[in-house]
Amino acid sequence: MRVLLLGSGGRESALGSGLASSASVDELFAAPGNPGLAQVAERADLDAEDPAAVLDFATKIDADLVVIGPEAPLVAGVGDALRDAGRKVFGPSKAPARIEGSKAHAKHLMHEAGIPTGAARTFDSVTEAIEYLDELGPPYVIKADGLAAGKGVVVTEDRDRAITALKESLVEGRFGEAGSRVLVEEFLDGPELSLIAFTDGMTVVPCEPAQDYKRAYDNDGGPNTGGMGSYSPVPVCPEDLAYEISHTVIEPMVKQTAARGEPFVGAIYAGLALTTKGPKVIEFNARFGDPETQALIPRLESDLAEVCLACATGDLAGTRLDWSDDVCVSVVLASGGYPGSHRTGLPIEGLDRAAKHPGVDVFHAGTELHDGVCVTSGGRVLAVSARARTFKDARARAYAAAGNIHFDGKHIRSDIALRAEGAEHTRDEA
Ligand code: AMP
Ligand code: GLY
Repeated sequence: MRVLLLGSGGRESALGSGLASSASVDELFAAPGNPGLAQVAERADLDAEDPAAVLDFATKIDADLVVIGPEAPLVAGVGDALRDAGRKVFGPSKAPARIEGSKAHAKHLMHEAGIPTGAARTFDSVTEAIEYLDELGPPYVIKADGLAAGKGVVVTEDRDRAITALKESLVEGRFGEAGSRVLVEEFLDGPELSLIAFTDGMTVVPCEPAQDYKRAYDNDGGPNTGGMGSYSPVPVCPEDLAYEISHTVIEPMVKQTAARGEPFVGAIYAGLALTTKGPKVIEFNARFGDPETQALIPRLESDLAEVCLACATGDLAGTRLDWSDDVCVSVVLASGGYPGSHRTGLPIEGLDRAAKHPGVDVFHAGTELHDGVCVTSGGRVLAVSARARTFKDARARAYAAAGNIHFDGKHIRSDIALRAEGAEHTRDEA
């Protein structure tokens, strides 16, 4: 089949590698893609968030399937435009994508469906928000309601910092319209986990669990980022717990959206805290996780394009996913200063050498070509993913390969998957 993949980040690079290695795929296009994706797909220079432009291009190439990677095109209604024109799409329409586009909406659906999550209230006034903040007590959790590229969340013990966050969002308009309402939430304690599932709007087929690292620095210090690394599977989440979460969290959300006449087709992502009172949802996303996907796709042995097509056509029932017994560790190489301001346009060296390590994939995220030279173009520049039988070996490979790559100011966390290595488990051969 002929597949069009939308997006240009590390997640899309991993999805592109999964689609390119799917036996069912004859031709792969990536719009706009990136220099790494150009090795497996033909790039199309178009605005992936413009429904009319995407529809035009999908029609021109007569795409058999469009896979939407990031949230922005979903929320912009790209899925709707394609579906209305009869195209097969992996990725929800605008209405069901609101489980990510509005955190208040997601909380509302979770309450309706009885999905375990923390207490939360939505505010557009600072004074009322502070009252609730004080009722809940520290640590304080403040979130912009809308999309803020992973930067609209503040978790802090410091009441003054919490109040500043409220004012920045509600009064100073730091996140624009997305922050004109904020949620104040109960703090959920416990290890975090990402469970992502394929769904056709009815059937739910979960991936193996993954874990990401949101904070910028080692030992979960520093500000929240889009994600500094990930690994899969997750020793603290054995298979039976993953299925329990799928049944008690993801399936009810898929049913709830369907009952509203807004069937969710695509990848549905639950970010959870494994609290002492059981798993509770921190957030839903309407797409694959970034960088979780960079640790999942290298382990997926099933034909990714077939699975996405089965979702798009409502034929997911009976699908089984095959996963490698290898574990995977993915380390993000970020620009110095990220998630704050950072330089771009810096030459990147050592990409070929890094990719030669056995079991290693180098996924591009914030890169571009300048006169034939690959340079940095964003905060998260690359993700280096490594597979191996054990977390110890996968970490060693990932860090060796990441160490071969150089650009000015390169920042990596050194503790990705360290806790999984600590809990090293031997997976059943069965
Ligand atoms: P989100 O964008 O909602 O996933 O939030 C980003 C990160 O902030 C999460 O991965 C958590 O580490 C943290 N966080 C968000 N909400 C909560 C919460 N209610 N309790 C504890 N940590 C949270
Ligand atoms: N890794 C978190 C996210 O994709 O939102």
